[in-house]
Amino acid sequence: MMTQISLEHIDVTFNQKHQVSKAVQDVSLNIEKGDAYGIVGYSGAGKSTLVRVINRLQKPSAGKVIIDNKDINKFSRYQIRRLRKNIGFIFQHFNLMNARNIEENILYPMVGTNTSKAKRKQRVQHLIDLVGLKGKEKFYPAQLSGGQKQRVAIARALANNPQILISDEATSALDPKTTQAILQLLKRINKELGVTIVLITHEMDVVKSLCNKVAVMDAGKVVEEGSILEVFSNPKTQLTQDFIDTTNNVKGAIETLASQKRFVDLSREQRLFRLHYIGKSTENPIIIDLYQKFGAVANIIYGNIEFISDVPLGNLIIEIDADKPTLKEIKEYLAKKDVHLRNINLQDESSKEE
Ligand SMILES: Nc1ncnc2c1ncn2[C@@H]1O[C@H](COP(=O)(O)OP(=O)(O)OP(=O)(O)O)[C@@H](O)[C@H]1O
Ligand SMILES: [Mg+2]
Repeated sequence: MMTQISLEHIDVTFNQKHQVSKAVQDVSLNIEKGDAYGIVGYSGAGKSTLVRVINRLQKPSAGKVIIDNKDINKFSRYQIRRLRKNIGFIFQHFNLMNARNIEENILYPMVGTNTSKAKRKQRVQHLIDLVGLKGKEKFYPAQLSGGQKQRVAIARALANNPQILISDEATSALDPKTTQAILQLLKRINKELGVTIVLITHEMDVVKSLCNKVAVMDAGKVVEEGSILEVFSNPKTQLTQDFIDTTNNVKGAIETLASQKRFVDLSREQRLFRLHYIGKSTENPIIIDLYQKFGAVANIIYGNIEFISDVPLGNLIIEIDADKPTLKEIKEYLAKKDVHLRNINLQDESSKEE
């Protein structure tokens, strides 16, 4: 795989009158050609600021941006303009030109390129077909729904056949069905046209259905990064875990358990566990193993299996009846099989609700 975008120790600091805001702090990322790279984080984490650095809408205070092996800090104005033509950008708000119709909006980025008039026309028609807006060529943005406007924004971002497409919350204003349709469209652009996609979102579900890699941002920093499978199967920070839990029902299950005395007691005795496993591990009869190898009885309280990048990923909540030394052995044994076991602390959960 070839690295297409490399961010090295990027800082972005905004100096305002009375305060200094460190929007991005020491972020290093590698995005490969063909990646669909998700960036998640809560509002204010620094996501938009970070991606704006990629096409120089934002100059970094420190660090290097390397695109296709070239350091863009050294680019002339002309080179920056050319770079921007090669990077499609879908803005957090659609940013369409209201006085121009759909055709004219999509045509606009081609102005000043050496594409012939006939070619441009052809390209616009092709893009309108691609995003499913045939028949709406002469409509104005005000005559379109939110989802349709977003399709225009995507078509416009693709006008110059970019190698890279950056999408800043392209679906956050849309209903679930339209969101799915737009995600399918982005997926096709990624898979069929081979366009590298950098996608900002605060919804982990969006990342799960589209991306192959993800970075989690918090307060200007990337706190976790990796393939979707790595991150979903073994999240290293609580923040990442919280994001992942919005995409499965584990959190709901834990909340339900926290309202029942029997489970709160179990968790106080440290016998309630969350068990995570991926891929092959699902073929191992874990529960039977625990009994045969350690004489420990495990009782499944909740179970959820889903597929991520075609790999099964399991989440179980189990009660294990075993003494402390045995539990330690069990943990080590499971870790070797890539099964992660963690205590569930329901007292925290129940006290949180009060
Ligand atoms: N031009 C600016 N001047 C001063 N501060 C800024 C500027 N742009 C962003 N910031 C600050 O940088 C931080 C990160 O903002 P950013 O827009 O990158 O967050 P975000 O993760 O995209 O959030 P959201 O999910 O709400 O879009 C915020 O605290 C914001 O106030
Ligand atoms: Mg933003």
